[in-house]
Amino acid sequence: MNEFLKNKKILLIIGGGIAAYKSLDLIRLLKKNECEVKVVLTASGEKFVTPLSIASLSQNKVYQDIFDSEKEAEMDHISLSRWCDIILFSPITANSMAKLASGRADDLASTLILASNKPIILAPAMNVRMWLHKSTQVNFHKLLDFGYLTIGPSIGEMACGEYGEGKMSSPKEIFEFIKDYFSERNIIKSKNLKALVTAGPTKEYLDPVRFITNNSSGKQGYEIARSLSKFGVDTTLISGPSKLKKPENVNIIRVETTEQMFEETKRVLPVDIAVCAAAVSDFKPEKYEKNKIKKDTINLNLKRNIDILEFLAKNNQQRPKLVVGFAAETENISEFAKKKINRKYCDWIVANDVSNPEIGFGSDYNEVAIISKSGEVIKLEKNAKSFIANYIVKKIINHFVQ
Ligand code: CTP
Repeated sequence: MNEFLKNKKILLIIGGGIAAYKSLDLIRLLKKNECEVKVVLTASGEKFVTPLSIASLSQNKVYQDIFDSEKEAEMDHISLSRWCDIILFSPITANSMAKLASGRADDLASTLILASNKPIILAPAMNVRMWLHKSTQVNFHKLLDFGYLTIGPSIGEMACGEYGEGKMSSPKEIFEFIKDYFSERNIIKSKNLKALVTAGPTKEYLDPVRFITNNSSGKQGYEIARSLSKFGVDTTLISGPSKLKKPENVNIIRVETTEQMFEETKRVLPVDIAVCAAAVSDFKPEKYEKNKIKKDTINLNLKRNIDILEFLAKNNQQRPKLVVGFAAETENISEFAKKKINRKYCDWIVANDVSNPEIGFGSDYNEVAIISKSGEVIKLEKNAKSFIANYIVKKIINHFVQ
């Protein structure tokens, strides 16, 4: 029995697909570990497993119809999503993913997910061609973008006889995923971890109307802050000028200049984790002119700005336990990033290519390499910035859980 699973409330949605039978085994595993399980069975799910077997295993009523409440006032789509700690859709079909990605709500499962404020985990299962179809992939990435967690699908022989990616993860794998999810959150909570994330560009004023800046949108840093806070880390985001909305449950401090970002960083210390995703201006005007500079007197002299990342990593008394920097490069990405780790005394560098307009600055996508002081290099292919953020944060969490 796992102490972190005890009394956890799992709302399991069983969708249509041969793999639906595996969810019966999953219910058994969850019940054995003293979880409470309530099940929503979709219309196509009912073609594969019977409500009677689910009710016997879960020891609870099975929910099937959005209009089947004994009393209309019960509103299952609201009460179920408020009751649970997590929602697990297993198996989820291509059709259900399409519905969730487009916000349709035409049955109990899709309606309660739309009305939910709980973590959602998806375990897709379908034929390999359906899984690899562009529309399924677009929907899947959209759902990742919404912050949904996913497990699988894995590669293997399918019920239809074909071989490939699309097989639902095994009940044991899904069970382990849920167990890890609750244990990590509990451990993080008990450690009271604090994180600081810098994001966005900075503005370095020459005079009251002119400044030096760059194209950073702040998206990658905001996503990292959002993800850290989802894992229960007390997160402060120090943001340069950005149009992005404050991520939920994140403390935000908005600044303009590098100097302000630096002052706020010092104020937030001590923290356990520092992620410097800001595109801080390396230079600032030597002198700030109080009045607008006239065009015939312009003479631009620059000086170096304080390096916030280096300050954090070198500041030995209050050094965060883990310092992560970013490296915006346009060439020789990994090579320059490795040098940056040494030069800036940080533990990891997340390197990306800002010369590619499809990724990096301003884009919703990124393609990065995570390089550690130890020499480990993890390359992440082009993916949504939210996905990249979740990956980085999961790695951060693992660092503290081990
Ligand atoms: N950084 C910082 N303070 C600065 C400059 C950069 O905290 N004054 C941080 C960024 O947030 C990022 C990392 O340093 O995490 C690397 O930024 P980058 O612009 O790629 O590197 P530079 O130090 O500017 O080096 P170079 O321009 O020579 O590549």
